Amino acid sequence: MGLRVATAFCKLPVSAGETISLRERLQDLGGAPGVLATMLRSMVDAWPEEVYAKPLIETRLLGQQTVFVMEPGLIRTLLVDEAGSLQREAFMTRALAPALGAGLLTSDGDRWRAQRRTSAPVFRPDRVRDFVPAMAAAAEATRERWLNRPADAGAFDLVPEMMRTALDIILATMTPGEGLDAERFGAAMEDYLGQTNWKMAYVMLGLPAWLPHPGGRRGREAARELRAVAAGLVNARRARGGGGSDLLGLLLAARDPATGAPLSEAELVDNLLTFVAAGHETVALALTWTLRLLADHPDVERRILDEIARVGTGFADDPARLDALSYTRQVVMEAMRLYPPAPLLVRRAARSIRLGDTLIPAGRSVHVPVYALHRHRLLWDRPDTFDPDRFAPAIHAARDRYAYLPFGAGPRVCIGMSLALSECLVVLATLLPSVRLRPVQAAMPEARFRVTLRPHGGMPMLPMRRAA
Ligand code: HEM
Repeated sequence: MGLRVATAFCKLPVSAGETISLRERLQDLGGAPGVLATMLRSMVDAWPEEVYAKPLIETRLLGQQTVFVMEPGLIRTLLVDEAGSLQREAFMTRALAPALGAGLLTSDGDRWRAQRRTSAPVFRPDRVRDFVPAMAAAAEATRERWLNRPADAGAFDLVPEMMRTALDIILATMTPGEGLDAERFGAAMEDYLGQTNWKMAYVMLGLPAWLPHPGGRRGREAARELRAVAAGLVNARRARGGGGSDLLGLLLAARDPATGAPLSEAELVDNLLTFVAAGHETVALALTWTLRLLADHPDVERRILDEIARVGTGFADDPARLDALSYTRQVVMEAMRLYPPAPLLVRRAARSIRLGDTLIPAGRSVHVPVYALHRHRLLWDRPDTFDPDRFAPAIHAARDRYAYLPFGAGPRVCIGMSLALSECLVVLATLLPSVRLRPVQAAMPEARFRVTLRPHGGMPMLPMRRAA
């Protein structure tokens, strides 16, 4: 169903027996269907220009009063000091809960706190080390797939290639050898996440959840399928008596340090799906944007190749080698500055909060637009220029911690941060020495916000064997 048709035909009840069309409702809200179209295309386009130049702004976004916070000190107050005064935004939870239930990403309060306490040790950097062999195996499989393509196979879209690699990694990390159909699982996840922009727009417009939208039915089927597969994995492992040093085994064995309680069956299913949803697309996009930026900056690519040659690969045997890839890490950080895979942090004030001179009343939406923060004119010199030297250790250490937030901050900082960075390093160091990627189009694709930040039209690239 096209947007025009959808807005004209979707009927909303206003009183007994009376309905109006969605188009009329949008007009009531003072937003033409064009605003909804913009938001569905990319929320970044719906942001006012001031988010790139002002410390804080208050504005209306699709009929909702919204505060955007871009000043690092105020962001710290918000995400750290006032973390207890914030809630998840309904538009995020309603979009994600049908598939992800009430796991780490979609819950609040005590429910969130207990799950976070219980699962945090599983993601400690020393535990992540144990997952490096699975990462290296998946990266090598991608490299072999690329090297074995027929000579005349031409260009491919790098986005699905990296999605497949990152999905293989998270599934191998979670449940290696469980016979899961990764391609089918990935397609269901894609079907689910692909329709979430509609759900978010509906919540912001105050539209009911039952109102149909494009992709809605397939999204529901995908959620059912994903939950059934995850429950199958949990039950099969339980039937074998649990155990295992993979993510699922560690989660089954995890106990809340405060209460001694294990995660319930529903919490295990919710969080397995949450880790796949939160942890594969984000990593895949970080890698996609990084590889494209490297193809556009051969001098930077050369420095990475020299570093990899110096450090050597063989990460499966010696995961500590990843620590020596310091310049490669800087490149990934700079790529995530320009193209943060999670471009927006959203919260709702559960009670009133003071941010500097601004009093934010209870109930107000508060956004940290990470994409804009990372290109903010008051915070970054040449904000749109790719320059990994910005992340040289001394320069990065002198920067305000809250000016750079690819993984968020405060108690809800990304739990998979260390896993994600290790994955990026292993994949880059495995692929780059063997394969050179050449962009098919000279211009960088437009970045579009669809929960994550994706290149519009994909990332067509031509892979070529790199001469030794
Ligand atoms: C480059 C890759 C990644 C990026 C850019 C990223 C980014 C983020 C960000 C910005 C948040 C905070 C959201 C907020 O405050 O509203 C977050 C939370 C989260 N991430 Fe990641 N993430 C990545 C990889 C991963 C991986 C690999 C996993 C797990 C395997 C993961 C699991 C999670 C979970 C469960 C949360 C919710 C934590 C909570 O609320 O307690 N992420 N991520």
